[in-house]
Amino acid sequence: MDTVIPPTIEVHLAPDDLRVAMEADVRAGLTSTRKQLPPVYFYDDRGSRLFDEITRLPEYYPTRAERAILEAHAKDMVESAGANVLVELGAGTCDKSRVLLDAMQSCGRLGIYRPLDVSDTTLWEAATALSEEYPGLAVHAVVGDFHHHMDELGDEGRRLIAFLGGTIGNFDPAQRAGFLTGLAAVMRPGDRFLLGTDLIKDRARLVAAYDDAAGVTAAFNRNVLHVLNRDLGADFDPDRFTHVARWNEPEHRIEMWLRSEDACRVKIADLGLEVEFAAGEEMLTEISTKFSPDELREELEEGGLEVEASWASPGDEFLMTMAVRR
Ligand code: SAH
Ligand code: AVI
Repeated sequence: MDTVIPPTIEVHLAPDDLRVAMEADVRAGLTSTRKQLPPVYFYDDRGSRLFDEITRLPEYYPTRAERAILEAHAKDMVESAGANVLVELGAGTCDKSRVLLDAMQSCGRLGIYRPLDVSDTTLWEAATALSEEYPGLAVHAVVGDFHHHMDELGDEGRRLIAFLGGTIGNFDPAQRAGFLTGLAAVMRPGDRFLLGTDLIKDRARLVAAYDDAAGVTAAFNRNVLHVLNRDLGADFDPDRFTHVARWNEPEHRIEMWLRSEDACRVKIADLGLEVEFAAGEEMLTEISTKFSPDELREELEEGGLEVEASWASPGDEFLMTMAVRR
C-alpha cells in the first residue's frame, strides 16, 4: 500500500521579485498611450477563486470542453507519451490534472506531479490536497512565472508537460513565439507537450463566455483594480469602471477592457504616479486568442515543435494537441 508523500514547494518568485515586476508593469502599462495591464495580476487569492467560479458558469464552455476531451482520451495520451512525470504550467487549482493523474495511475505510471503557478496559496492548497488523494505520488510545486522559469521544470523521468485551459491564448503572438521556443529548448527527446487551445467559433457564443449574466467575469476583470489598490496604494474606484468583452476579428481574439465611466485622476501612491482617464477611456486587461487547428500547427512548428496527435471536443469547440520537439 502506497503512503502519502508530503508535498514540496520550490519558490522561484520571491515576494520582492513579484513586487518589482508589478511596479514596472503597472508604470509602463498606465503611462502608455493605450493603457493596459498584464493578466497575471488578476490571480491573487480572490481572483483565483473568481476564475474557479468562471469555470463553472453556463456560458464558459472551455473548461467543460477540455475536460470532456481529457475524460475520453487521457489514457491514450499518457500511454503514448509513456510519461511518469506530469508537469503542469499555470496549474491553478489543478482540477483537470486529476483526470491525467488518474490515467497515469491506471497505467501504473504515477510518479511525480510538478505544477507551476504564480499564485502560491492556490498552488500549495492544491498540492497538499493532491498528495493526500494520490498516495505514492510525489508532488513538487513550483512557484514561478511561465514567461521566465521554463528551466525550472525538473529533469527527472519522462515528462508530459501540460498547458491547459487555453491559457496560451492569453499571450500575444510575440509572447507565444518566445514561450514555444523556450519550451522546445528545455524539452528532451521523449518529453511530450500537451496543449489546450480554444477554437474560433460563433462570435456571440465567444462574447457570452466572457460577459456572463451573473457578472462573475466582470468581477474578475475589476479584481485587478482591487489588487493595485491593495498592493500599490492606488485609489481606483472599481465601481466606476465597466467590464467590456469584445471580439477582435482580425486578431481572432476576445479582448477584455475596463472602461472608465467618468473622467478621473487615479493616484498610485507607491509609484509616485498620477494618471488621467478620460470619460469613456478603455484599458486593455486581457486578450484571449482563439485558434484554427492549421494556424496552431504552424505556430508550433515555427517554435520548434511537431504535432503528433490532436483531439477536438464535440462540436469542435476546443482542441488538445500533443507535440514533441523537432
Ligand atoms: N490551468 C488551469 C487554470 C487556468 S487560469 C485551468 O485550465 O483551469 C490561469 C492560471 O495561470 C492561473 O492559475 C494563474 O495564476 C496562472 N498564471 C497567470 N499568469 C502566470 C504566469 N505569468 N506564470 C505562471 N502562472 C501564471
Ligand atoms: C486563463 N484563461 C485561459 C482564461 C481565458 O478564457 O482566457 C481567463 C479568463 N478570462 C475571463 N474569463 C476567463
